Amino acid sequence: MQLDPSFKKVLGDYDKRLDDENQLMKTLSGVDAMKRRDEFLLPVGEDAAIFMNTLIKSSKSKSILEIGTSYGYSTLWLADAARATGGKVITLENNADKINYAKDKISKAGLSNYVDFRLGDALLSIKNAKETFDFVLLDLWKELYVPCFNLFSPKLNDGAWVLGDNMTFPPISKKESEAYQNVIRTKETFTSILLPIGSGIEVSQNHS
Ligand SMILES: C[S@@+](CC[C@H](N)C(=O)[O-])C[C@H]1O[C@@H](n2cnc3c(N)ncnc32)[C@H](O)[C@@H]1O
Repeated sequence: MQLDPSFKKVLGDYDKRLDDENQLMKTLSGVDAMKRRDEFLLPVGEDAAIFMNTLIKSSKSKSILEIGTSYGYSTLWLADAARATGGKVITLENNADKINYAKDKISKAGLSNYVDFRLGDALLSIKNAKETFDFVLLDLWKELYVPCFNLFSPKLNDGAWVLGDNMTFPPISKKESEAYQNVIRTKETFTSILLPIGSGIEVSQNHS
């Protein structure tokens, strides 16, 4: 895969941080890791990122919504795809420190023109959004997947893709992930399938 040099440099920074975090994670109990989750990137991972990047480019999706920016790992890949399609990523996060970190990385990658960072509660940001969407990445705390879906589904364009991360990992969020899968799979306008990429992605397409 051909990558822009600035993109590659920023990706290397994330990978280094991720290696360090993985070492630290190994020393923490599940409970402690959960308590300290805001310190970690919690990224979709490279396989899922490459899949999303390719899907956006091949479907020529322009209006991209990311729900759960964290420190911007996935945003970087979505923004690279948006540059290729002439589109824009709207990314939602309620933690200001994370948004600031992500903004700096996106700027260093030369991708600031392709990202609109919206700080605040995702539910409110979705409700207030005037845009309609071709592609949605759902990747915030899992109990919010269904409430978010209910808010953004009327704003999806025909043919829009919706990707829900963490369907199979971590096991702690299995109940919420399954609840989301049940909701989207019972909507007649969606075709949906679980792909074993990264932490398990529910890939759904809207045919409205
Ligand atoms: C799993 S992380 C996102 C990881 C990111 N997509 C990536 O791959 O790099 C989930 C993020 O959702 C954010 N979040 C959780 N609840 C939120 C809410 N109600 N509104 C906005 N952001 C929220 C958390 O602060 C956290 O940074």
